[in-house]
Amino acid sequence: MTIERTLSIIKPDAVEKNRIGSIIAMIEARGLVIKAMKMVQLTRLQAQCFYAVHRERPFFAELVNFMTRSPIVVMCLEGDNAILKYRELMGATDPKKSTPGTIRHAYGKDVQENAVHGSDAPETALFEIAYFFPGFKLV
Ligand code: RTP
Ligand code: MG
Repeated sequence: MTIERTLSIIKPDAVEKNRIGSIIAMIEARGLVIKAMKMVQLTRLQAQCFYAVHRERPFFAELVNFMTRSPIVVMCLEGDNAILKYRELMGATDPKKSTPGTIRHAYGKDVQENAVHGSDAPETALFEIAYFFPGFKLV
């Protein structure tokens, strides 16, 4: 057993479509436990810093516009092997390439409006959880 924590975001497209509850139900059904949760609307600076790893990519400006256009739901999830488990539950970045049963297959529209975010490694999970939940106990 490797208990991990990971950061999940329900992105603006999914919140606009009223899918918060449906996505949380999929997360809970997969055995992941919500340890912290809040609804916020990111400023441009917050979105730019959160996705700083992508700042040189051609889609960066569009990504910042997308992530700031309406509120998001941010959660810290915990469970056995939570980082990989949640990435598998999310599905491929492009919903058209995702498999049935994943969140992006159910609720994503395209490679940008893909419903959810999840940390991709232990180091990014630590950074991302601290970014949204400063002072929260990380392990
Ligand atoms: P995320 O970080 O949001 O969990 O998604 P990911 O790991 O599956 O994908 P990543 O490569 O990290 O991309 C971050 C987010 O940027 C948007 N994107 N747009 N227009 C494009 O070609 C494009 N590619 C990526 C998506 O919202 C993606 O989730
Ligand atoms: Mg990513």
